[in-house]
Amino acid sequence: MQMKNRILVLMLAALAGTAFLRAQAPKMITVDAGKPVAPIQSTMWGIFFEDINLAADGGIYAEMVKNRSFEFLQPLMGWKILKPDTTTGILILNRGTGYRNNPRFVRITVGETEKRYGLSNAGFRGMGIREGMVYHFSVNACPQPGSTLKLTAELVDSKGKVAGKASLEPAGTDWKKYTADITSTVTDTRGKLNVWIEGQGSIDLDMISLFPDNTWKHRPGGLRADLVQLLADLKPGFVRFPGGCIVEGRDLGNRYQWKNTIGNAEDRPVMINRWNTEFKHRLTPDYFQSFGLGFYEYFLLAEDIGAEPLPILNCGMACQYNTAELVPVDQLDPYIQDALDLIEFANGAADSEWGKIRTQMGHPAPFHLKMIGVGNEQWGPQYIERYKAFAAVLKAKYPDIRLVSGAGPSPDGSFFDYASGELKKIGADIVDEHYYANPAWFLQHATRYDSYDRNSYKIFAGEYAAQEKFTTSPENHNNWECALAEAAFMTGLERNAAVVHLCSYAPLFAHVDGWQWKPDLIWFDNLRSFGTPNYYVQQMYSTNRGTEVLPMLSNGSPLTGEDGLYGTAAWDQVSGEVIIKLVHTGTAPVRLQVKLTGKRPAASAVRIQEMAASDLGTVNSLDAPKAISPVPGETTLRNNTLTCDLKPASFTVFRVKIKK
Ligand code: AHR
Repeated sequence: MQMKNRILVLMLAALAGTAFLRAQAPKMITVDAGKPVAPIQSTMWGIFFEDINLAADGGIYAEMVKNRSFEFLQPLMGWKILKPDTTTGILILNRGTGYRNNPRFVRITVGETEKRYGLSNAGFRGMGIREGMVYHFSVNACPQPGSTLKLTAELVDSKGKVAGKASLEPAGTDWKKYTADITSTVTDTRGKLNVWIEGQGSIDLDMISLFPDNTWKHRPGGLRADLVQLLADLKPGFVRFPGGCIVEGRDLGNRYQWKNTIGNAEDRPVMINRWNTEFKHRLTPDYFQSFGLGFYEYFLLAEDIGAEPLPILNCGMACQYNTAELVPVDQLDPYIQDALDLIEFANGAADSEWGKIRTQMGHPAPFHLKMIGVGNEQWGPQYIERYKAFAAVLKAKYPDIRLVSGAGPSPDGSFFDYASGELKKIGADIVDEHYYANPAWFLQHATRYDSYDRNSYKIFAGEYAAQEKFTTSPENHNNWECALAEAAFMTGLERNAAVVHLCSYAPLFAHVDGWQWKPDLIWFDNLRSFGTPNYYVQQMYSTNRGTEVLPMLSNGSPLTGEDGLYGTAAWDQVSGEVIIKLVHTGTAPVRLQVKLTGKRPAASAVRIQEMAASDLGTVNSLDAPKAISPVPGETTLRNNTLTCDLKPASFTVFRVKIKK
């Protein structure tokens, strides 16, 4: 169709839509601002962090060198030898038991003829380098007696052209840390780092590292600022970490142990990431955990972005989808002790055993931990037995810490029924429910919590995401269809804030070249990042949270899908506004009249944020990061009534200022 004709058709369609709306009797809705029904917790909308899809190493942890300490199963994975020379070369040495956490290093010997030996690190699917940016290079080096060597670190672009360099002259025969800054002359997402040794003799190297200068808050060895900013912009109520199945490990030896993730970065033992070979269609053999982002940094991150920390700990069970290894119940003590020690690490006095370590790491003040999770998505009687053992000890010592328990991997079925029944009987505090399902499921389950017992445990909707095809399908996309279904479902979470206290989309992050699981909330490459439509739905909820649920009714019932409409309303004590959220999943526009009772509006102007796309397949991308994102607007209130025309496939938030 020619452009002129296409525009004509669009104009006619718009006119037809307007005429249709005029002819249609508006749907009448009431919001009673005078009758709050339940508080909305400050923790209502949060973040689920797991090191999957290169979320930590290769993602938010800004280290650019992969396998910096040569501790991957194959010690030179990630490294390429430049100019191999048969007379000299590289040795992998192991210091043995005295250095249990970081035993390996490399010894490079420079040849008589070549006088130069080089190593190149590929980074995490390349290294993102930006023109003008300073990069902090560091290395632990120990020249061998009688050697005179120069070390040059070079940034190179994807074509191998040098984009900046710096040299060091290690001296003495002890291990020392050397640092140098390099400024990049180019921008490239697939740069590399070359390390050249020139002169004569041998040198030992370990912890070869490179960080951009612009980390979050410019912390040395810190986090990627753009990714933290995306998290901060969600204004999350909590951060759950470190997962997810990564808590459990494929076997118990591979479980997440928080004590291995604190202290000096070089003393944190590297471990294979459990997602490394989980999916045959997305094998990631170079996926390890350096724990450069460890429990101290998680607590700091939560504090930085104003969120409650919510650590989840292994409960003596490895992933039941993998080995399902169990710790016998009478041998759980070290696991329970880890939980007690973590609470002390977070909250203990600066002179307590674990509080002292927190203080030495730079944070004398407590992190104010209030919740802790026991197990991830375990199931069966083995879980309940272990949860009870943890709860008995934790509740006795820390009665004010709320415990999060799990209801298994599905939102229904025999595992779910068993777990929820048992957890109810034992008076659990908060139960974590997970749902990965198709968009239709989300639309159908907006009423899920309407019938939950208000006098029993509270709900943590701890992992949810609409799946375009099926769970773990590599063909899933973060499209508008899925995000809209989540927005509709979330009206039910907010409406039931009496029972739902925490919610988080999962997984959080994915590297565009290094993912294992789709969909994910935030995508990135080595330089850029973007929020998906699902991200903006989460943000519309979390930045328009409100403090109390208000009754919102049409013909005496909540809006739970009739005519494709879903809705929820909240009073926000902080801003003095009534916040109305409306999701319209229908294919034609709809006219609504929302009458506000119980409180008087302060003005006729009403602020709006709207997300809409007629193509449900719409996605955001690195090149079009905000193809679908909230668009601000304004409308007018007359006689306490909002007349609004909702677009097809839209999610709209209205904020009405109330008279003091
Ligand atoms: O979010 C991805 C995975 O899904 C989590 O690790 C696990 O808890 C769930 O099965």
